[in-house]
Amino acid sequence: MKKLEVGILGATGMVGQRFVSLLEDHPWFELVWLGASDKSTGKSYTEACNWRLRSPMPKSFREMIVHECRPGGAPQLVFSSLDSKVAGEVEKEFARAGHAVISNSSNYRMDPDVPLLIPEVNPDHLALIRVQRQQRNWTGMIVTNPNCTAVGLVMSLAPLEKAFGLEKVLMTSMQAVSGAGYPGVPTLDILGNVIPYISGEEVKVERETKKLLGKLSDGRVKAGKFAVSAQCNRVLVEDGHMETISVALSAKASLEDLLEAWRKFRSLPQERKLPSAPKRPILVHDEHDRPQPKFDVNTEGGMAIVVGRVRPCPVLQFKYTALSHNTIRGAAGAALLNAELMKSEGYLD
Ligand SMILES: NC(=O)c1ccc[n+]([C@@H]2O[C@H](COP(=O)([O-])OP(=O)(O)OC[C@H]3O[C@@H](n4cnc5c(N)ncnc54)[C@H](OP(=O)(O)O)[C@@H]3O)[C@@H](O)[C@H]2O)c1
Repeated sequence: MKKLEVGILGATGMVGQRFVSLLEDHPWFELVWLGASDKSTGKSYTEACNWRLRSPMPKSFREMIVHECRPGGAPQLVFSSLDSKVAGEVEKEFARAGHAVISNSSNYRMDPDVPLLIPEVNPDHLALIRVQRQQRNWTGMIVTNPNCTAVGLVMSLAPLEKAFGLEKVLMTSMQAVSGAGYPGVPTLDILGNVIPYISGEEVKVERETKKLLGKLSDGRVKAGKFAVSAQCNRVLVEDGHMETISVALSAKASLEDLLEAWRKFRSLPQERKLPSAPKRPILVHDEHDRPQPKFDVNTEGGMAIVVGRVRPCPVLQFKYTALSHNTIRGAAGAALLNAELMKSEGYLD
């Protein structure tokens, strides 16, 4: 199969670097174009990028020139990890010019005609692309992946919602510093500290969770009816968002039923063996003190959600802990899986 050429908008940032790393040996996509801000334009990727990943910058992209983020010259498929201050205008410009934009930014996630996608959870929501093209009269498209905190929550809730229905959800997050981009949170603010506020995060998690677990009907997503409350905190962890979650379910279920629902959970990406799909999307840990970011964040290449500490909750019904990699499953890896699903569905032909 001839590889599909792809580009990255915002290639120099934290998420952009993950894209570059994940695309190095991708079997379906070939990275041929990098875009970033004026300060990076015209420089080689090595000169423009302050590489922060532990694995070395792939040799094949080091001398690639960084371009201005304008359509014309960029391949048809672009991944976007732009700062949300500019993503709105730039992504729209690309979609108008006929590009498929697979975005990490929050700007379009809640638009009714834009798919907000987790391929294991709501692959049918991709059908919104047709509505989007009709309504906006453009030949391109924008498809989004969720906020990095919503993804772990929703992946862990999806099998429970399907098997038992959801009534109430409480989630408290402990979010890694890499989630704030680079250079991110100042050392003096976070060292020896926990910051109980991340601008806009709680509202995003609550709204996106309901859209992701909503039902598509007549070209619209009807948001999930359950109640969800999120409290988000920044902690001094490099990568990995940890969440403590309590749920009340609609149908009767035992603790064993929950464990079985998570362990059995497989979906379209696994059936189709999409290249970035984890074999086990949810891994349940039996040890009493796991998951932990230090040991579990890279499970299945950072694409699995790790769940543990499942027990009865005296206020709601059950409580547990979930962990996800914020720049892989919560960002670049999620967008890649979205693109793979779209390719397998014929949206990128
Ligand atoms: N970090 C995470 O865990 C995470 C997870 C999910 C979603 N996201 C979202 O993904 C996006 C990127 O996050 P990040 O953490 O990678 O941020 P970041 O490290 O600050 O990177 C931002 C990128 O945007 C580019 N950029 C900034 N201003 C620009 C402009 N005027 N024109 C063109 N490019 C411009 C930067 O290029 P220069 O280097 O040239 O300035 C850089 O490549 C954000 O919308 C964020 O909310 C992040």
